Amino acid sequence: MDLFKLFACLGAAPALGVFATQAVSFVPPASSPLSTSANYVGINNGSLPIEQIVPGRVFDRFIQIWLENTDFSVANSTAEFRSLAERGILLSQYFALTHPSQPNYAATIAGSFFGIADDSVHDIPSNVSTMVDVLEHGGISWAAYMENLPADGFNGASFSSVNYVTPGAADYPFYMRKHNPPILFDSVLKNPSRLARVRNFNDFAVDATAGALPQWLFVTPNMVNDAHDTTIDFAANWLQFWLEPLLEDERFNNERTLILLTFDENESQNQNNNIFGLLLGGAVPSSMKGTVDTTYYTHYSAMSTVQSNWGLGCLGRGDTDPVMSNVYELVASATGFENNPVSGKKIPLTNASGATPGPLNPSPSLRTPWPAANSSAICAGGGPVIATPL
Ligand SMILES: *[C@@H]1O[C@H](CO)[C@@H](O)[C@H](O)[C@H]1NC(C)=O
Ligand SMILES: *[C@@H]1O[C@H](CO)[C@@H](O)[C@H](O)[C@H]1NC(C)=O
Ligand SMILES: *[C@@H]1O[C@H](CO)[C@@H](O)[C@H](O)[C@H]1NC(C)=O
Ligand SMILES: *[C@@H]1O[C@H](CO)[C@@H](O)[C@H](O)[C@H]1NC(C)=O
Ligand SMILES: *[C@@H]1O[C@H](CO)[C@@H](O)[C@H](O)[C@H]1NC(C)=O
Ligand SMILES: *[C@@H]1O[C@H](CO)[C@@H](O)[C@H](O)[C@H]1NC(C)=O
Repeated sequence: MDLFKLFACLGAAPALGVFATQAVSFVPPASSPLSTSANYVGINNGSLPIEQIVPGRVFDRFIQIWLENTDFSVANSTAEFRSLAERGILLSQYFALTHPSQPNYAATIAGSFFGIADDSVHDIPSNVSTMVDVLEHGGISWAAYMENLPADGFNGASFSSVNYVTPGAADYPFYMRKHNPPILFDSVLKNPSRLARVRNFNDFAVDATAGALPQWLFVTPNMVNDAHDTTIDFAANWLQFWLEPLLEDERFNNERTLILLTFDENESQNQNNNIFGLLLGGAVPSSMKGTVDTTYYTHYSAMSTVQSNWGLGCLGRGDTDPVMSNVYELVASATGFENNPVSGKKIPLTNASGATPGPLNPSPSLRTPWPAANSSAICAGGGPVIATPL
């Protein structure tokens, strides 16, 4: 494929940022996915330690890669995504939880977005547990890799750096806190050893090269590579640059790796929130490559699937919701988890913004106290409800 093909940013979609009126072509931020680069900003401080691998039922490593604001049909009709779908399991009934971006990122590790309906800075109180607690309780190592994060654990709302895409232009806000799940939670923000696991892409390069990638990874590309300020074709070019070579690299993807490539939300808010989700990696058996799984999933499914795979505890929030937390069939069929057959009109409408009550809902009439976790919830992994941070 021609990585440097010029294309125009089309349409009047709200996702388009300052590039809306100018043609931009993909520019690789580094010479290869495992090279460090000044474009990634934050220097590397040394790799994470190589930690003990806790074996799971279906996979030993789970890597989530989130792109931005794209309808299912748009991704599914883009050549690079079709090509990847031939190598994985397409989740055709995968739905985001709400709009805009930030609440989806918060919910995917907390099992709730607590009523958030904006992209403003929120500090979720230190008594709210997240997947970080569930993982650490089970001895599963984790890290979040944020492209263009200026320093590990950086807590600014955004960060602008040299515009390597349009040389000579002003510094560009490539990094956004709203797309960084762990940093939204004080249980991470106020804990230095956890903060050191909120890392940038120079750390990724060094960790992967050292064979030190943890067992649970969340990967957020920058605001151009994730399609937020650009187009699906720009993100497709980034996948060709970054993901394609890594799929062939044992330090990232081996026969015990499961990768979820997905989007935070659907672009067309007047329709329900169906997004493209694709399971890739060596843990997908050859016989299932190029297949479609039509089970209803949401972002909560990434939590329940991880819990089911490793026999972990849970949060007793959305991750145990009887409708919204189906476990990927690839894993459910191995662990005996019974999915709920939700389809058609029974699929909840999750395309509204601000309609869900919660402590961070902007509307006073929909604001509630901080909810307690459901301490009698049944965890997909059979472990305990982890109601407060470790
Ligand atoms: C995704 O695209 C393929 C190829 O065009 C098509 O056959 C398939 O029906 C699409 N999937 C869905 C669920 O629309
Ligand atoms: C390197 O580590 C130090 C000490 O933990 C920290 O203050 C600094 O922000 C780190 N630098 C980067 C670029 O992450
Ligand atoms: C959500 O989608 C449904 C149909 O899919 C539509 O009827 C409804 O108006 C949408 N809601 C919003 C808030 O756009
Ligand atoms: C957004 O998702 C809905 C599924 O609920 C889908 O019908 C619709 O096609 C998507 N929007 C667009 C414009 O593709
Ligand atoms: C958590 O802390 C908030 C205040 O930050 C408080 O309102 C809430 O009751 C606490 N929740 C629990 C379950 O202790
Ligand atoms: C808590 O979980 C239990 C067990 O699944 C369920 O029966 C109960 O309805 C849940 N409570 C709430 C408030 O959701």
